[in-house]
Amino acid sequence: MKIIITGGAGFIGSHVVRLFVTKYPEYQILNLDALTYAGNLENLRDIENQPNYRFVKGDIADQPFVDELFAREEPDAVIHLAAESHVDRSITDPLAFVRTNVLGTVHLLNAAKNLWKSAGYEGKTFYHVSTDEVYGSLEMGTEMFTEDTPYDPRSPYSASKASSDHFVRAWYHTYGLPVKLSNCSNNYGPNHFPEKLIPLAIHRIRTSQPVPVYGKGENVRDWLFVKDHATAIDTVFHKGKVGDTYNIGGVNEWKNLDLIHLLCDVLDEKTNQPQGTSRKLITFVTDRAGHDLRYAIDSSKIMNELGWKPSVTFEQGLAQTVDWYLQNTEWLERVTSGAYQDYYQQQYAAR
Ligand code: NAD
Ligand code: DAU
Repeated sequence: MKIIITGGAGFIGSHVVRLFVTKYPEYQILNLDALTYAGNLENLRDIENQPNYRFVKGDIADQPFVDELFAREEPDAVIHLAAESHVDRSITDPLAFVRTNVLGTVHLLNAAKNLWKSAGYEGKTFYHVSTDEVYGSLEMGTEMFTEDTPYDPRSPYSASKASSDHFVRAWYHTYGLPVKLSNCSNNYGPNHFPEKLIPLAIHRIRTSQPVPVYGKGENVRDWLFVKDHATAIDTVFHKGKVGDTYNIGGVNEWKNLDLIHLLCDVLDEKTNQPQGTSRKLITFVTDRAGHDLRYAIDSSKIMNELGWKPSVTFEQGLAQTVDWYLQNTEWLERVTSGAYQDYYQQQYAAR
């Protein structure tokens, strides 16, 4: 089986690529990524020479490129993660999100349909990776997002992801394309770009800079270890029902301020600082526009129907994450200085 994984140089994509390349040596994995600021091939150094792995640099919003790639490579499956993924950036540049998340997804859907339809769709899969943010914002309390929760996106990012989900389902109903979808909560773990809350806070604490908390820090997110998201994607890809959607989460809700307090305490302990040192860096800043109050996801469908469950507790996952950042300060320095963007040139330009 030949699988195109889009966005494989990003945070979650790199963990999915590594899992598939190492667990399924009989599959050919083609990592398609535009290497935007969020794409970092250094994430995949350890597997880049595996015989069943290849990288292709390209933009999913470039229709002729996508069509030519599908015609040339004839993939059997697509696992689509490429996206503009940061909510704050979507507030300042919404069109970039429409371009990649909506238009790019439609180009991939069309290319897959055009390649597969004549021989029939048997054995083919178009798997779209999405987010819990499409369901909107919850009040504090016990209600959770299920697969039947109506869509109510409220940021340009979540609106673009909701739109892409609708297009994926439209290609299933209209053209019979064999699609699968999953909507996941906030991921954390190694290789997370330090514009997102957890890696940003780790980087800021490590370098004794202010840690910005939006508003009063009362917003709630559900956190899942990225390697557990990768195993969930593996599960849905192989066992999920065509046409179905699976919610994925950690059953692990945290108020932002409580989470930052925990992170400060873990870092104090691991760097032998007196408890309370890092908490002094917390700085309350202007809230995010349209800031969704709470996300909480009910993962019982994937757990009960497909037998997936997270492998680590939050305490274990967070400890592994902090250890990874403390041991990979060079990765963090190259990402924050921009030096990681030279890696493609050094590694691939001559090939
Ligand atoms: P990321 O920003 O770390 O990575 C995105 C990758 O997509 C990068 O490698 C980037 O270079 C690539 N990309 C961007 N535009 C492209 C284009 N036009 N053509 C080709 N490649 C392009 O994102 P992430 O956090 O790893 O998220 C991956 C996917 O999972 C996204 O679809 C996101 O919506 C979804 N998701 C993320 C989370 C999370 O907590 N991070 C949670 C649920 C769902
Ligand atoms: O829920 C899944 C989503 O989680 C994914 O679809 C997105 O791609 C991913 O970026 C993430 O979105 P969030 O907006 O929840 O993540 P972020 O890390 O940007 O913010 C987490 C919370 O922390 C949110 O309530 C905003 C707050 N925050 C964020 C930053 C960057 C701060 O208080 N300070 C900050 O500096």
